[in-house]
Amino acid sequence: MKKSGISGLIFFFIFLVTVVFFIPPAEAFIDYNVHAVNTKLYHSYDGLICSDCHTIHNSEDNAPVAEGVGPFSRLLTQPTATDICLQCHSYPASSAYKAPAVMTFSGNILTSYAMPSGDFYWSIIDSKKGHNPGKSLGVQSVMMPSDSALTVSPGGNFSTQDWDCTSCHDPHNRFGDDVAAWRQLRRKINGIVHTGEETVLFGVESYGGNQGATAPGYEPIKSNSRGDIRGGVNNLNYVNTRADGNPLEGATLRGITESDINKNVYRGGFSSFCAVCHGSFHGGNNETRNSDNGVTRAAGSWLRHPTNVRMNEAGSKYGITTYTAVITNTQGTNPNPAGYDWKYPLVQPDNDFTVKKNVASATDPATAIGDTKIMCLTCHKAHATQFENMTRWNTNTHAFIENGMTDPATGVVWNGGDNPAFGCGKCHQKGGTKAFVKAF
Ligand code: HEC
Ligand code: HEC
Ligand code: HEC
Ligand code: HEC
Ligand code: HEC
Ligand code: HEC
Repeated sequence: MKKSGISGLIFFFIFLVTVVFFIPPAEAFIDYNVHAVNTKLYHSYDGLICSDCHTIHNSEDNAPVAEGVGPFSRLLTQPTATDICLQCHSYPASSAYKAPAVMTFSGNILTSYAMPSGDFYWSIIDSKKGHNPGKSLGVQSVMMPSDSALTVSPGGNFSTQDWDCTSCHDPHNRFGDDVAAWRQLRRKINGIVHTGEETVLFGVESYGGNQGATAPGYEPIKSNSRGDIRGGVNNLNYVNTRADGNPLEGATLRGITESDINKNVYRGGFSSFCAVCHGSFHGGNNETRNSDNGVTRAAGSWLRHPTNVRMNEAGSKYGITTYTAVITNTQGTNPNPAGYDWKYPLVQPDNDFTVKKNVASATDPATAIGDTKIMCLTCHKAHATQFENMTRWNTNTHAFIENGMTDPATGVVWNGGDNPAFGCGKCHQKGGTKAFVKAF
């Protein structure tokens, strides 16, 4: 794909101008605290204020309410759903709204927010660096340019004509039939149910309800970032835990940065989520090196990188042992964590709660569990990154991180010594486990 170059910059300019005019309606961030909200979550039904995002006639004192010309589809106050979301979810507006941020105007890592899905700033600057959900029902977003090269999802057929934040997220609720317990993700995306069905054994949905055909590699997302509604009168109390009483698994998004002690813990079908639009990159829920699935593996050989194999696969040279390999470097430090490494997240087993969102794992070997799985989000983030193809590290450069380079996950200069267990080397130390740097 070509880079978006000039058009990205033009959009960025429009975007800067636009943000100046987007003065937050004061009630948006005050009301959700003042009203009788029991969950204290804005996007739960009891916290929503319809008029934050909708206008009934697009008229108030005989003047238009919508930003721009209007009226807009679905009675929205902005041309696209994405423009609606970014009013509150771009930094610094996010501070006024008390909302998590998914976009900055600088690309800098913010110390006051965790942004585990990355920063849409990067895909605005260069559409190759991430998702560009830039159109609702064919109408172009003001804030978000569309991808300059891609008109459908690679490995799938999802069109960019109706591709906005609500392609993946539900704007209206967190506890209803149609959302996962993780980050308000829709259960049904691109016409395919990828997660759902109630089971109190996991932290998943409080509500059942079959919404249609399930994905071929159907495997529910089993992490919970939102809490649940159960207990009390009519089972209607908000509880700040998973349904099974285990702690929530979503990193805290405001007031603190992402780190080993504030990280997402992934459980269940995160690859099957991506596969609803990128199906031919996914090996299915029983992916293994010991049988062919015809998509990622055929005739006993990998055709595409495995995305759902266990990290203790029998017969594999690579897995949890190479993930935690001891590295020897000239500085005399082992730069590779001995335990679970949040910079290379793995799907945790359903019933194993050893890895916790707010407890350090890097130094604890017990957190490197063989029954974990690699997934799409091991190498990618969900929104955008500073690198092409939305990867967590630069896959177009030097294979390992040298002492003194900037760590892309933290923005901090790396001082753990040369680290061949970086990027692909995290699991494949093809040059061995000894670091030596030749001056070129
Ligand atoms: C945070 C912004 C936001 C708020 C607040 C909001 N909506 Fe929406 N609404 C949207 C967006 C974006 C869409 C279009 C995407 C979609 O259909 O999900 C939409 C679509 C709709 C639709 C048409 C599609 C459908 O799901 O049936 C209805 C009806 C609707 N909203 C009603 C409401 C009502 C009633 C409220 C207040 C209780 C409300 N909305 C509050 C953003 C919002
Ligand atoms: C009026 C401001 C406002 C608008 C508009 C808005 N949000 Fe939010 N959003 C918030 C606030 C405040 C929170 C944090 C409170 C909470 O967790 O509900 C939040 C939380 C979220 C979260 C949950 C993060 C978590 O903790 O798991 C998601 C996902 C989200 N919003 C998506 C959207 C999408 C998609 C849109 C556009 C359709 C949107 N928001 C529009 C204010 C807004
Ligand atoms: C391709 C589907 C997709 C689109 C499009 C998308 N998101 Fe997300 N979003 C996700 C997923 C998946 C996660 C959780 C990822 C994780 O946990 O690593 C997420 C996480 C979030 C969070 C939690 C914070 C974070 O960094 O993880 C917020 C808030 C959010 N999204 C809002 C938005 C807004 C606003 C937009 C549009 C500008 C948007 N999303 C577009 C899939 C999407
Ligand atoms: C709702 C459909 C949808 C889902 C779900 C989805 N994607 Fe995408 N993805 C797209 C579309 C459409 C494009 C092409 C347009 C664009 O990049 O905005 C795309 C492009 C990409 C690209 C290439 C970016 C570029 O411009 O070169 C990557 C990488 C990617 N997706 C990874 C993922 C990952 C990882 C997930 C799961 C977290 C995911 N996608 C989930 C629709 C989706
Ligand atoms: C081992 C790391 C790794 C894993 C796991 C992984 N990817 Fe990728 N992905 C990459 C790299 C590197 C690229 C760059 C293109 C290439 O090398 O094929 C890429 C490119 C992409 C693209 C862009 C393709 C294009 O035509 O521009 C999409 C879409 C994508 N990945 C989706 C996924 C999805 C969906 C999953 C999970 C089913 C996944 N990836 C798992 C590393 C990974
Ligand atoms: C989180 C660990 C992890 C990361 C990171 C990772 N891989 Fe892998 N990779 C694996 C596993 C596990 C296998 C399966 C090995 C097997 O079946 O023996 C594999 C298989 C492969 C294979 C096929 C090996 C064979 O025997 O056919 C190649 C090639 C490969 N990876 C390259 C890469 C590249 C390039 C990157 C960086 C973009 C990367 N991997 C990142 C874990 C990882």
